[in-house]
Amino acid sequence: MATKALNVKPSKEDVKTGITATARKEISKELAQILGDTYMLLVKTHVYHWNVVGPLFLPLHELTEAQYNDLFAATDVLAERIRALGLTTPVSFAAMTKNADLAEAKSIASAEAMVESLVADHEAIVRSMRELAIKSEEADDLVTTDMLVARMTFHEKAIWMLRAIVAG
Ligand SMILES: [Fe+2]
Repeated sequence: MATKALNVKPSKEDVKTGITATARKEISKELAQILGDTYMLLVKTHVYHWNVVGPLFLPLHELTEAQYNDLFAATDVLAERIRALGLTTPVSFAAMTKNADLAEAKSIASAEAMVESLVADHEAIVRSMRELAIKSEEADDLVTTDMLVARMTFHEKAIWMLRAIVAG
């Protein structure tokens, strides 16, 4: 027998957890952009993992593997937060990355240039996350803030590790 719960339209879900509908919508929109940026960075990290050459091959190949695994897991966490806020995620990669701040790799670069590009992307995504973490806290959405703080912890550590590999 069909129940009311089965007829829920996801985008119209009424979530009475103390966050206004306007805030849930606004936060979800920005989370979708961070989700798109996370996919962009995931793909670039993976492409560099495959194509890095030279004396830094092994440390960069291994570090990027750990990082793309974390980024992939993060896409699930970010998307599921949008759903828990009562909204739906973008349904296509094009929709997801339409407003992304980050861009794909255009060519195969040197190991040093790969690190420079990855560091710049991690820094950009942290800036977006910090902005939204403050906004979500102001909207009483402490769960989103907490999630973003955890994501920023990963990205800031990634920046340190990438820089340490090319320091000399
Ligand atoms: Fe691999």
